Amino acid sequence: MKLSKELTTLTFVLLSLFCSAQNNKQQHFEPGAIWPDNNGVHINAHGGGLLEFEGTYYWYGEHKIEGKAGNQAKVGVHVYSSTDLYSWKDEGIALRVSNDPESPIVQGCIIERPKVIFNKKTGKFVMWFHHELKGMGYSAAKTGLAVADSPIGPFTYQHSVNPNAGRWPMNFTAEQKQMRFPEDLKSWSEEWLAAVADGLFVHRDLEKGQMARDMTLFVDDDGKAYHIHASEENLTLHIAELNEEYTDFSGRYVAVLPAGHNEAPAIFKKDGKYYLIASGCTGWAPNAARSFVADSIWGPWKSLGNPCRGTSVQQQTTFDSQSTFIFENPHNPGEFIFMADRWSPENAIDGRYIWLPIMFENDKPVIHWQEKWQLK
Ligand code: DGJ
Repeated sequence: MKLSKELTTLTFVLLSLFCSAQNNKQQHFEPGAIWPDNNGVHINAHGGGLLEFEGTYYWYGEHKIEGKAGNQAKVGVHVYSSTDLYSWKDEGIALRVSNDPESPIVQGCIIERPKVIFNKKTGKFVMWFHHELKGMGYSAAKTGLAVADSPIGPFTYQHSVNPNAGRWPMNFTAEQKQMRFPEDLKSWSEEWLAAVADGLFVHRDLEKGQMARDMTLFVDDDGKAYHIHASEENLTLHIAELNEEYTDFSGRYVAVLPAGHNEAPAIFKKDGKYYLIASGCTGWAPNAARSFVADSIWGPWKSLGNPCRGTSVQQQTTFDSQSTFIFENPHNPGEFIFMADRWSPENAIDGRYIWLPIMFENDKPVIHWQEKWQLK
């Protein structure tokens, strides 16, 4: 009798806990709000990207700490998992910075915008990230590689590179390859911008490899993967094919939107067309997003203008955020979700996430602000 009473009480307690856990489960997106994980802690995955693997989503991003110091990598890359995209479970640190001062990923270096893709051939999870060496500001402009056997890691750091050393962009003409540039060009002058468009920085970096800052990864329907990064002093984007294992550059790449000053690239494919959303280059401060379309990943890319709709401030600041990734709505294939960061450089850990649906109006991707919304 006593045992059964205790059992009833226990069942009640467990049921209440279960119900309250269910009720606490977030069932909507609230752009810019604190987004608690399964422990009630604001998600710490900035400049992030998603990977869907066997029905589960993994969200990888920069783990930030409090204060300005959080703009450097003090911990590493954080990973969360979810099956509904609203509620996220903390899966820990996927790639940890090193304590070894000799390691390129020593604590205090810069690790930004990590993205992970799964390679079917090798069964490995492949992470690439924008990597800057400790104490060198943003001058190294490298991309780092880490590999894991499980989506939640641990990822093992391999190395960092300036891609495509010794390779010309495939869309460079023979004339561009032969060009010589005057040495006294004034930065931002018309002549300088024309020289940048003609490959001033590609020439400069040909031997040592090209710059790679803000980046994303994109896997096409045929399984080919591309590393898209802000190169040439952030003036020109490079779209570079990875090898079959996704662990190296194949050497095939194009320089796109030359001298367009685009960063924070995010890419998606809809009805056979490729769409790119990027930002301008204003550090942590927000600016107006830009969108582009192409029939081939190699371009040519055509401008479709600012995709943001709303007040002039919302349009000029991308809803006070900067693009990081775009993924397909699993409930409504053909619809895509825009992921962006509302940075908080003075207290990096307080950065917020702006997730909004991408609509199509007059064949252009457009993004409207929503306070609170759900997947349809
Ligand atoms: C803008 C980039 O998009 C961010 O990832 C970061 O590198 C900041 N610049 C640093 O100022």
